[in-house]
Amino acid sequence: MAGLILAIETSCDDTCAAVLDGPRILSNLISSQHAAHASFGGVVPEVAARHHLELTAPLVEAALAEAGVSLDEIEAVAATAGPGLIGALLVGISTAKAIAAARRLPLIPVDHLQGHVAANFLEPEPLEPPFLCLVASGGHTLLAAVRDQFGHEVLGQTRDDAAGEAFDKSARLLGLGFPGGPALEREAAAGDPEAFEMPVAMTRDPGLDFSFSGLKTALVYRCRDLGPEGVGERRADLAASFQAALVGQLTAKLKRALKRGEWEAVALGGGVAANGPLRAAVAELCERQGVRLKLVPSALCTDNAAMIGSAARFAPRMPYPDYLAYDAFASAERAA
Ligand SMILES: Nc1ncnc2c1ncn2[C@@H]1O[C@H](COP(=O)(O)OP(=O)(O)OP(=O)(O)O)[C@@H](O)[C@H]1O
Ligand SMILES: [Mg+2]
Repeated sequence: MAGLILAIETSCDDTCAAVLDGPRILSNLISSQHAAHASFGGVVPEVAARHHLELTAPLVEAALAEAGVSLDEIEAVAATAGPGLIGALLVGISTAKAIAAARRLPLIPVDHLQGHVAANFLEPEPLEPPFLCLVASGGHTLLAAVRDQFGHEVLGQTRDDAAGEAFDKSARLLGLGFPGGPALEREAAAGDPEAFEMPVAMTRDPGLDFSFSGLKTALVYRCRDLGPEGVGERRADLAASFQAALVGQLTAKLKRALKRGEWEAVALGGGVAANGPLRAAVAELCERQGVRLKLVPSALCTDNAAMIGSAARFAPRMPYPDYLAYDAFASAERAA
């Protein structure tokens, strides 16, 4: 086998390595650090970087072993260059540089958000552009126009919190586990989404931007009104009402973007795309609008290295030794 890509993703608290043969995933491993951060109620950047340092090399070895290939068969090494936690990113990109330099292989730095989009290019049933992609993750929420495999245009994005961040903070407020999205979704399953009125922000705004800070504040006030005992009794209803409002805003904006009639296919990306009620609401919307919907498995929505390898197939390669001084970047502005 030739032409394989080894991909590494360490932008937040998951250490990820994958081997790809074109759009086909040969291995895709994730070593979650959630347990190391749970007692802090969120990701501690320095703790994340230190864990990546211990986990990345063994995970790369395991990914090669699971794929049944050796480094001799790897044609290029890809890694997330940003945006993300800078210390965490540096571990991944430095590991990729070291592996690539030792073998004089090219390095492919990858934009993390394009990675979330590129999860849709993977087999089985890769989605061909053009399509509209809603990316909702821990640090970002945006509507992306995907016209080819090489990049995307941001049509609208959050003006404050990301959808995943709102899930995580609200889950913490409700005394649920970390990461908050899955914990809140589980709690909400037993609740009534209409029990509490929560603001579905930005629906009258003519643009495609999002805002979730008002929803989070509304939940803070409901909890304050109810008191700790009341929150304990109504936790499922609070979670369900919050989730319904958040999903409501995401689907309202998607619907607005589709109204322009330009898009025949829709895809979801980012960790929040693993959310069951969001997937169901978007499926219903797409069916009503007669638009094709691509839903990748949940494991390809949250951070993973297969999506980074997928984006790398269409990203510029840096030959050895040009990348030796290449740096990771923490925020999207640096990428521009
Ligand atoms: N089932 C779910 N329902 C809602 N949110 C979820 C679910 N599963 C994961 N999430 C949320 O997704 C986020 C993690 O997604 P992802 O790994 O894509 O984000 P990130 O990499 O931290 O951020 P970014 O991609 O913006 O850098 C977390 O905020 C988590 O709570
Ligand atoms: Mg991510």
